[in-house]
Amino acid sequence: MVDKKVHIQTFGCQMNVSDSEKIVAALRQVGYSPTDTIDGADMVILNTCSVRAKAEERIYGILHTMKGELKRNPRLLIGVGGCVAQQEGERLLKKVPHLSFVFGTHNLHLIPQMVLAAEDGKRIAETDFIDNETRLDLFPVLGGTGGVSRFVTIMQGCDNFCSYCIVPYVRGREISRRPAEILEEVRMAADSGVREVTLLGQNVNSYGLKVGDGPNFAALLRQVAAVPGIERIRFMTSHPKDISKPLIDCFADQEKICSHIHLPVQAGSDRVLQIMNRGYTRSDYLRKVESLRAARPDICFTSDIIVGFPGETEADFRDTLSLMEEVGYSDTYTFIFSPRPETKAASLEDKTTRAEKQARLDEVIALQRKLTGNLHRALVGSRLQVLVEGVGRHEGQIYGRTSGNRIVNFTGPVEMIGSFADVLVVKDAPNSMLGEMG
Ligand code: SAH
Ligand code: SF4
Ligand code: F3S
Repeated sequence: MVDKKVHIQTFGCQMNVSDSEKIVAALRQVGYSPTDTIDGADMVILNTCSVRAKAEERIYGILHTMKGELKRNPRLLIGVGGCVAQQEGERLLKKVPHLSFVFGTHNLHLIPQMVLAAEDGKRIAETDFIDNETRLDLFPVLGGTGGVSRFVTIMQGCDNFCSYCIVPYVRGREISRRPAEILEEVRMAADSGVREVTLLGQNVNSYGLKVGDGPNFAALLRQVAAVPGIERIRFMTSHPKDISKPLIDCFADQEKICSHIHLPVQAGSDRVLQIMNRGYTRSDYLRKVESLRAARPDICFTSDIIVGFPGETEADFRDTLSLMEEVGYSDTYTFIFSPRPETKAASLEDKTTRAEKQARLDEVIALQRKLTGNLHRALVGSRLQVLVEGVGRHEGQIYGRTSGNRIVNFTGPVEMIGSFADVLVVKDAPNSMLGEMG
């Protein structure tokens, strides 16, 4: 078979990064191998995100610039997958006449046949959801690709319908992958040298709840922890309402589970949380934080926060700031509310001006900078184990990640990349720390 080249651009969350691996595997079946540049590519695929309007607009911008690429190479095929593809379907082919094919989030297995049709000049969109058991057969067990750290998908979709969020509409119903396949993938990863796995899903805490007889998330974690070779376990994303006592117990007695949890709170005011349909109150959330901290005193919390949700008052916003202080997050990802198609919140009255929203965003970012700074300062003088991930910014430096998900730069040999190191934290910095080996 002739070797053809595909250039894949991935946007959005880790779910899309994982899907891009599957897209690469599907494309190999029809003779394509990946290339980092668009120059010399026979096909371009955009794996898209539509969580906020900006993410979606960006895709249209890139598709527009592809016209220039097509002038240079008229045979170039352009495909769009991911959440914008799922949202728009056929419409996308109409909006973008130079687009060859569109595949939805449940249709990765159809890529080979779609590409063959596109090579024959056909324009196709496949975006049907497969919201039944057969979808479980569409999770190939992926072998190791080298590296020390790996993501393993344990579930897909989301049934929570937070009122602002498009994910349930573009990813479909929540489905938990079979435990035997997850464990096989973890074992294969461990055998190939992986030491850290991150279990991935929109909503990992509700793993297994909808299938009945399989393990729940806490039980799955224990099974993953028992796989020889795996030394660190992370997971993403946790929904606060589903943090259970058995999961909290895992933090107390399973050392391999890292001292970090991404626990998006979104807002600090009960009124806003309710309109967001989050399913917990501020005090429910804080109680869970307290229990997790009791189980694992050095645990680091990170969060997602939305500012400028429709009707968010200054007082509501102050509640978000005070909650951030109370938890003492090590990091937050902050977003200005963006109305999304089909979602309930898109039709709510929204009187806050863009400038006010921007000011709130700036305030959250400034507060987080202070909180991160405090945490890093408090860690100066402590000895931490890091998993070394790469070369640092300064000459001779490498960097590693602590169990709490903080970065430490230190002088050391590049040969250490992929192994554990003990470092003494000697200095704090706004986004990382400086350490010394030994
Ligand atoms: N449970 C998910 C969340 C996905 S979206 C997960 O697996 O990570 C990531 C974050 O984007 C959300 O936590 C939320 O803070 C933000 N977000 C989602 N929809 C948004 C919207 N319409 N406007 C602004 N931010 C949004
Ligand atoms: Fe979106 Fe809420 Fe589901 Fe997360 S839990 S993906 S924020 S609907
Ligand atoms: Fe974006 Fe889709 Fe992920 S909307 S955040 S790529 S699930």
